[in-house]
Amino acid sequence: MTTILSAGDHFVRPSQFTAALKSAVGDSAPLDITELMLPWPIEPFGAVENVREASGTVDDLIGALQGVEIAVTQMAPFAARVFEQCPDLRLIGVCRGGPVNVDLDAATAAGVIVTNAPGRNAQAAAEFAVGLMLAAMRHLPAVHEEMRDGVWRGDHYTYENAGGELSGETVGLVGLGSISRIVARILQAFGATVIATDPFAEPLDGVELVELDELLRRSGIVSLHARLTPETHQMIDATRLEQMRPGAILVNTARGGLLDHEPLPDLLRSGRLGGLALDVYDVEPPPADSPLLSAPNVVLTPHLAGATRMTADRAAAIIADEVKRFLADQGCRYVVNPEVQERLVP
Ligand SMILES: NC(=O)c1ccc[n+]([C@@H]2O[C@H](COP(=O)([O-])OP(=O)(O)OC[C@H]3O[C@@H](n4cnc5c(N)ncnc54)[C@H](O)[C@@H]3O)[C@@H](O)[C@H]2O)c1
Repeated sequence: MTTILSAGDHFVRPSQFTAALKSAVGDSAPLDITELMLPWPIEPFGAVENVREASGTVDDLIGALQGVEIAVTQMAPFAARVFEQCPDLRLIGVCRGGPVNVDLDAATAAGVIVTNAPGRNAQAAAEFAVGLMLAAMRHLPAVHEEMRDGVWRGDHYTYENAGGELSGETVGLVGLGSISRIVARILQAFGATVIATDPFAEPLDGVELVELDELLRRSGIVSLHARLTPETHQMIDATRLEQMRPGAILVNTARGGLLDHEPLPDLLRSGRLGGLALDVYDVEPPPADSPLLSAPNVVLTPHLAGATRMTADRAAAIIADEVKRFLADQGCRYVVNPEVQERLVP
């Protein structure tokens, strides 16, 4: 009997993990599954002890993990202390792209394999990013609000107020990973010219790879899709923002830490920045007195780009398949600490 903890939340629910595990593993191995519900996204995620973007408490997790060999989760806080106090743990399946809620060094030292689910929400986040581009370019939230207030403004149709089109526009993608590769394909279908900057990416057909300063100079729309690391922290700072084409639109669906938020309200008010669409923020949620909330030409959403039901379904299924492979000694596909798997499955 293999003991498993389904530490789900209100997006990828514990019962969803359990159902996916039973469906993937079938009768091939008997499973003893217990469930733990974490409060995200009803309560925002955050730093918990020494891990990031986590939900719930370390003590609750340690309590639920006693005697457990495999844990599947999206947000549980696998801080260093967990590995000292849960000696039976052998595998953690984290159904997200960046498993920043796991202390990877501690997991590796304890001989625990950590797998993730890259690309599970790539389609959702890509479609959302393109939606934000359209919303910002055509001022959709502002005109919607005016209509609800009974205002029909003819001057939106004036030449100076009219929006642009994706067709024929140059769109610059900062980062060319799982999500932005799909964004590129969608934009190409719209007839946009897509350029990208990414020091590590494989080339993509029809997408010119350029340096960041050239991308900022040429693009009518700049969309951020890099991972947040010490190197990419505030990579778009005040100097970089000044390099953008006057009136260009900036979209961030990646992480707030990539962007210096401080100069943005002034750049919007002056029209230097033509539009700004944010799904992610330097502080989440942004404080009620944040000047961005009252700045012109902004489109703001509460970190929703990856939130489709298909994302949750895919996430649970990918991780259940990893568990199945682990139990069958086939080796997991998306191991983030391969040295542990190599030790265990030669
Ligand atoms: N808003 C949401 O709900 C949501 C959902 C999913 C992902 N995300 C975020 O979107 C971003 C992209 O996710 P992904 O799954 O495509 O990630 P990914 O790892 O597949 O791609 C990230 C890319 O960034 C590149 N990169 C690294 N350093 C760079 C630099 N200095 N300049 C330019 N590119 C650089 C990497 O080479 C990689 O190709 C991440 O920040 C992720 O956290 C947000």
